Amino acid sequence: MRGARIIGTGRALPMRVVKNEELTLRMDTSDEWIVQRTGVRERRYVDPGTGSSHLGAEAARNAIANAGITPEDIDLIVFASLSPDHVFPGNGVLVQERLGMRTVGALDVRDQCSGFLYGLSVAEAYVKGRFHDHVLVIGAEVQSTGLDFSTKGRDVAVIFGDGAGAVVVGPAEPGRGILSSHLHSEGKYAKDLWLEAPSFIDNPWITHEMIDAGKHFPKMNGRYVFTHAVRRFPEVTLESLLKNGLTIADLSLLIPHQANLRITQAVGAALQLPEEKVFSNVERYGNTTAASIPIALDECVEQGRIREGDIVCLASFGSGFTWASTLLRW
Ligand code: COA
Repeated sequence: MRGARIIGTGRALPMRVVKNEELTLRMDTSDEWIVQRTGVRERRYVDPGTGSSHLGAEAARNAIANAGITPEDIDLIVFASLSPDHVFPGNGVLVQERLGMRTVGALDVRDQCSGFLYGLSVAEAYVKGRFHDHVLVIGAEVQSTGLDFSTKGRDVAVIFGDGAGAVVVGPAEPGRGILSSHLHSEGKYAKDLWLEAPSFIDNPWITHEMIDAGKHFPKMNGRYVFTHAVRRFPEVTLESLLKNGLTIADLSLLIPHQANLRITQAVGAALQLPEEKVFSNVERYGNTTAASIPIALDECVEQGRIREGDIVCLASFGSGFTWASTLLRW
């Protein structure tokens, strides 16, 4: 079997920077509380009319350019998002059209914070299995339009932001690039981080009562999420190293999903990794769900934090619960 590696990365962030102070005008919160509990100092919000498909398409354009290929070379689009422009069709087809691609497949992935790594595993399999040569994987979110900015929704609203990241996966010699992917889920916690309505279970699927009850806003059992995240991140990171006969000492860089700074710090401590080996940009973007890992990866590449031959682990945890890791030899 041939290998598969990331041959280009890209990102797209909205221009509008929203600092914690701005949120204090809309809800009972403080910069101090947000920074202390989450590490977030600012996040980006889109202007009206911009969807995750737009941000995703821009990130994809950058990733394709950095890969030194053209949109015509892409054989498959994988788009991960919990905030697609529409319930259907998915964002993948919108990117196909916007980038003027061939009539290639467009697969939409619904695994929230793990969505990008779930999508990357699909790209890995298609390229390693010689089904395709170039697979585009996008993670993009517009969450600012769907948050409860009243004090009732403050625990969730202060954490999340908008953004997009993308990669192109192409062929590699065996043993280089994506070494392995590890995906997990535990659906008994589905309601501990979820958006209850509108729901096709209900008839009709959207009602005034739902809206009055605020069921159309995301809800989170923060403590549960925290407890599970600090256990699953280290577990799935070690799983990827073990699978490849490596140890934590071999790891050059861990790029965790940017859930919040306290989780990232707890994971680093659990793995006994020095601070410089655990990437964090959550203070600038908040939690961008499916977009956070590809945005972080693109920044790491740009900053020269990853060198050829480095062992890099991407790891995620989020709604589902789902968690995942991808081990790379860059
Ligand atoms: N500003 C000010 N106060 C807030 C607040 C905010 N934005 N959000 C919640 N609070 C209040 C609560 O209402 C509560 O008040 P009370 O004690 O009067 O009831 C108090 O702060 C403590 O809330 P609690 O939920 O116990 O805080 P916590 O220490 O568990 O921290 C989180 C809350 C959300 C920061 C924390 O649970 C967490 O980090 N969870 C993981 C979240 C995450 O990463 N999600 C994304 C996963 S992909």
